[in-house]
Amino acid sequence: MKIPKHLAIIMDGNGRWAEQHHRPRVYGHVKGTRVAKNIIQECSRLGVKYLTLYAFSTENWMRPQAEVAFLMKILRRYLKKETQNLIKENIRFTVIGEIKRLPADVASSVSAAMVATEKCNGLNLVFAISYGSKQEITNTVKLLAEKIAAGEMTADQIDESTIQSHLSTAGTPDPDLILRTSGEQRLSNFLLWQAAYSEFYFTNQLWPDFTVADLKTAFEDFGNRQRRFGKVAHKNEITLN
Ligand code: FPP
Repeated sequence: MKIPKHLAIIMDGNGRWAEQHHRPRVYGHVKGTRVAKNIIQECSRLGVKYLTLYAFSTENWMRPQAEVAFLMKILRRYLKKETQNLIKENIRFTVIGEIKRLPADVASSVSAAMVATEKCNGLNLVFAISYGSKQEITNTVKLLAEKIAAGEMTADQIDESTIQSHLSTAGTPDPDLILRTSGEQRLSNFLLWQAAYSEFYFTNQLWPDFTVADLKTAFEDFGNRQRRFGKVAHKNEITLN
């Protein structure tokens, strides 16, 4: 089993799970939150350094208002109940996404949790909330254009590392492994730039059914991948005769 330094998860399938159990969609989110808590704890225990969870996408604002309100309630409750546990487990909590769009009290709970855990140096837990990768890249382009307009830099000075360091994930290594549950095999506007060389792991299981054992299976699979980052594995392999 190989432990990725940075694991990113698209926790998908809460709604379908609830439907299968003849319960309202929001019940799937409640169950999904419990699973997220177990997975966070296990990642911390296993020594994952960064865990990014896609908790709410920019597009999720278009869900029925009652479901959005419920997801906000879950976040509010999670932050209130879990901040002390995060500190106890030495987990640093940060967020990527448009925090300004969140209800004011949720946004301030997010900030409070970030401040409360800023000295923790175990697992870095990143919630992607109101996050969309195209929006993130657009903001980065705007920011750089403004810097150029203000004479702070020139266009020639822009290289990949300039962009990397202006994304909301600045300072975080790109994900080694991106896991998505529920059988969908797409990124859905998640970490598009950062996923350039990520390994992908898809499972048919719905997020509320995902277990710590499944996480370990994913890590086993990840351990068998050969990551070449566009290069060849052994330089001497190629002969020209
Ligand atoms: C996708 O399932 C899930 C979401 C949009 C929300 C994910 C949020 C949680 C699991 C709660 C996590 C929150 C914390 C505080 C850790 P879906 O509703 O898109 O499922 P479906 O595709 O089956 O409809």
